[in-house]
Amino acid sequence: MEKIPTQIYPSILSGDFGRLADEAKRLEDSGADGIHIDIMDGHFVPNLTLGPKAVAAIRRSTKLFLDVHVMIYNPYDYIETFVEAGADRITFHFEATEDVDDTLQFIRRCGKKAGLAFRPETPFSMIPKYLELCDLILIMTVSPGFGGQKFMPEMIDKIALAREYCEKHGIRQGGIIKPGLSLPPFDIQVDGGINDETARVCTQAGANILVSGNFLFKQPDLKQAIENLRQCK
Ligand code: DX5
Ligand code: ZN
Repeated sequence: MEKIPTQIYPSILSGDFGRLADEAKRLEDSGADGIHIDIMDGHFVPNLTLGPKAVAAIRRSTKLFLDVHVMIYNPYDYIETFVEAGADRITFHFEATEDVDDTLQFIRRCGKKAGLAFRPETPFSMIPKYLELCDLILIMTVSPGFGGQKFMPEMIDKIALAREYCEKHGIRQGGIIKPGLSLPPFDIQVDGGINDETARVCTQAGANILVSGNFLFKQPDLKQAIENLRQCK
């Protein structure tokens, strides 16, 4: 399979919430490709975290790409709010709405990248239909809701099936590959329990964007840890 560069998105959920701006700056200085921000509503997942004001505060403190992962019901209703707060990509859950197509289209009409996330229990068969309608798929490797959970190895097959499907059907970033047109590989993100061991199995299966919270924030040298994770292949 083609070698795809790996991008690292630290999850600020494991950062110090009393110093979000400093944490964002520290991630920028440590070479992160972007910041993953988890939004939870206490209904779709049994936890409450950050909201749009926190996203706006992070936006003011960094130029890094802001990857907003919304774990909330009816995500359509909050798209404009997160766009105004400064999100660069909004990833919502397939399981959280009846209006997946409309929500993806709306995010794109707002000029932002649209991501679609899948909970562990949602089978691969639900994914292909949306690959041409979104900019990224997020394959959850834990049950969403909390940082610091154990990686679910059963998700490896789902990642591999998604990458194989994209390759077989010529699905790339920005559309279907055509003769004479080179497009980067489609973005497949994983989130939950990513460390230097699970990063390797995920990238080998075909993931190219790794979210990591608990593992990265525990490392004494964040810059080195991000680089190590990026090289885990
Ligand atoms: C979990 C969140 C994750 C979480 C990952 O629902 O979506 O982004 O922060 O954290 P770790 O890497 O600690 O599993
Ligand atoms: Zn997340």
